[in-house]
Amino acid sequence: MTHPAPKSFQQWRLAKHPDGVPTPDCFELVDTPMPELAEGQVMIATHYFSLDPGMRGRLSGDSYAAGLKISELIESAGIGEIVASRSERYGVGDYVMGGLGWCEGNVVSDRGLQKLDPALFDDKVSMTATIGVLGVPGLTAWFGLQDLGQPKAGETLLISSAAGPVGATTGQIGKALGLTVVGIAGGSDKCSYLTELGFDAVIDYKQASDLPAAIKAACPDGVDIYFDNVGAEMLDAAILNMRLNGRIVVSGQVSEYNRAQPHGIRNTTAFITHRLRMQGLVVYDYHKQFVDAQAAMAKMIRDGSLRYTEDISQGIADAPKAYEALFAGANFGRRLIKTIG
Ligand SMILES: NC(=O)c1ccc[n+]([C@@H]2O[C@H](COP(=O)([O-])OP(=O)(O)OC[C@H]3O[C@@H](n4cnc5c(N)ncnc54)[C@H](OP(=O)(O)O)[C@@H]3O)[C@@H](O)[C@H]2O)c1
Repeated sequence: MTHPAPKSFQQWRLAKHPDGVPTPDCFELVDTPMPELAEGQVMIATHYFSLDPGMRGRLSGDSYAAGLKISELIESAGIGEIVASRSERYGVGDYVMGGLGWCEGNVVSDRGLQKLDPALFDDKVSMTATIGVLGVPGLTAWFGLQDLGQPKAGETLLISSAAGPVGATTGQIGKALGLTVVGIAGGSDKCSYLTELGFDAVIDYKQASDLPAAIKAACPDGVDIYFDNVGAEMLDAAILNMRLNGRIVVSGQVSEYNRAQPHGIRNTTAFITHRLRMQGLVVYDYHKQFVDAQAAMAKMIRDGSLRYTEDISQGIADAPKAYEALFAGANFGRRLIKTIG
């Protein structure tokens, strides 16, 4: 028996632009009536959606994508099931992933969605991996390290926010490429996790009174590639330890996102003396190569050389608090919201 399509869905919308860390009052949960489907549209019941630190910039203004306006749906990756369709591509009961947003469901165009075959997923590769290790975070690691990092076996790779989904994936890809991998993370649990993943050394930056010295102790010959997810003081400390011709991959700047004034980059003289190169990426620039990268990473997951952790909260009501907590380091792996029981 098919159930009638819902008349409305709960959706998190922007209530005010944050000033500093995005607090729950920046978001408003709105029971949103669903329109009649137009040709080429589907209604999706969202099962999971992601909470992304990189989306912070768009809550205040323009980033590499346009900033969100007041009352707009908060954007994120999601997985859902089609519950009504006027699309030739997707029928009721199909599973899809795409930019579904922080919501229990929505009516959207059938463009920009990707069909997921539940038969392809199991205990090793979960369907949620498509919005995590096989989605934007994993792909950022894959292309950032290999395209911008230009790794060569035997080199030393240093990663900040190393226990996050981008950082942990970067480290494991680095190990598979024959690099010596050093991770920086906050707290002993995260550091132990990185050791379990095969990192050669870890630095708990919350315990390090002198971060440049801690990096020097962990990387005595210097750092060839710094994969930066954090920026600011951590970037300053890494620059002081770069080797000649070192590469700095700017993936994210999570410690800059909530500052009124950016800390910026210090120690720039080292770029001259050590012939350093620093380059950022937007992962979507590599979209034509996503399928091949996803196949390669899925193979690594199946052979045990790539592990991933998901940190799943139950219930849509939790999203703003769980998002705020990302900036206090509370997530252990890819932070997702499961909307249904
Ligand atoms: N360029 C691209 O196309 C692209 C795409 C996706 C993501 N990214 C970026 O990649 C980075 C990592 O993303 P992710 O999804 O894997 O998230 P993530 O690393 O899990 O981000 C949250 C973690 O960042 C650390 N953190 C938060 N505030 C911090 C601060 N003020 N100082 C130091 N560390 C802080 C915390 O870890 P600790 O407990 O270890 O401090 C926290 O658990 C983000 O900066 C994101 O913007 C870039």
